[in-house]
Amino acid sequence: MAKRVVLAYSGGLDTSVAVRWMIEELGVEVICLAADVGQGGDFDVIKERALVAGAIEALVVDCREEFAYQFVAPALRANAKYEGKYPLISSLSRPIIARHLVAAAREHGADAIAHGCTGKGNDQVRFEVSTMALAPDLETIAPARMWDLTREKSIEYAARWGIPITVTRASPYSIDQNLWGRTIECGILEDPWEQPPEEVYELTTPSATGPRDLVIRFQQGLPVAIDGKEMALDELIGEVTAVVGSYGWGRIDMIENRRVGIKSREVYECPGALALLMAHADLEDLTLERDLAHEKARLEPRYAELVYDGLWFSPLKEALDAFVEESQRFVTGEVRLRCEIPGRCIVSGRRSEVGLYDYGLATYEAEDRFRHSDAEGFVRLWGLGVQTWAARQSRARRGPA
Ligand code: ARG
Repeated sequence: MAKRVVLAYSGGLDTSVAVRWMIEELGVEVICLAADVGQGGDFDVIKERALVAGAIEALVVDCREEFAYQFVAPALRANAKYEGKYPLISSLSRPIIARHLVAAAREHGADAIAHGCTGKGNDQVRFEVSTMALAPDLETIAPARMWDLTREKSIEYAARWGIPITVTRASPYSIDQNLWGRTIECGILEDPWEQPPEEVYELTTPSATGPRDLVIRFQQGLPVAIDGKEMALDELIGEVTAVVGSYGWGRIDMIENRRVGIKSREVYECPGALALLMAHADLEDLTLERDLAHEKARLEPRYAELVYDGLWFSPLKEALDAFVEESQRFVTGEVRLRCEIPGRCIVSGRRSEVGLYDYGLATYEAEDRFRHSDAEGFVRLWGLGVQTWAARQSRARRGPA
């Protein structure tokens, strides 16, 4: 039985109740760890609340840069979108939080980590499988899977222990947010036929008044500058999110297959992620050799699936990382994004000093250097097999014309 637990703490109702509940029901000491992955919020308030709830220690870790470079960047370079749509917002933050939970457990002599996830979602899988990969000896505890508290009862429980939960305007939604975007579930969204009400959105409320171009510079698959201004990746993602989001672009409304067998309706807003993924993929079109591009495209859905399924720290995922990294050697250049009202963001241009687009080969103008005569023999051999098949078998099967 665990004696000291490090809890992934958000400052919300469930994790606050979890602190007290674990102390009372499991007789453990609780250390709270709040990871800043770009979700915003006041971490002093969160820290204070953890202590009021009964934690013996409240840790706050600023992980924004680490999250951007070590988790978001590999996913971006892999063009990772689960089921072709979802850029893995929460799926990317769980493994980094798990890594910090494990580090804190080691530092503070804890023998377990804990999280506030219920049994119905993917996040429990990600927290626990990541922990199993990083620290096979640590126990994992999921209080929300053990208690049977409704939301009402949780609020009561918090009140009884004097835990100050500002259940602000009693939002019926379950929200998760980080640098890469915002996820919204529950409430009226549980009816897949209902249109998401405008109130669920925060990052994509239209406010822009005219068109705007954004030139994103990539260096080996990593975005490094906007309009010539270099910035750190976490900052750059924030900037693209703000600009593109102000055009009301970057929303996803999808039915998704969770790892635990449930189909769920998910709403996302992630203007920065979608714009950068679009720009990155476009630059790859210009810079990746054909076979490499096609093979990479085959591996990308698998990569996204592994990350979604909680296997960030796993041998296949790491092997794919090595492939993706090698593939990015020449993904260097610029992509111009054009934002327009209403709700539009497109790639309007791309260029690269190492691009494989060759004007002399592509043009139909006088500068054409392509040897047209080479095509004749090439096509004859290319079609030779089907030509023989057509003459001997295909036509015979169909009967006389
Ligand atoms: N469906 C998404 C995923 O599985 C979003 C999860 C959001 N998590 C949350 N605790 N609200 O990655």
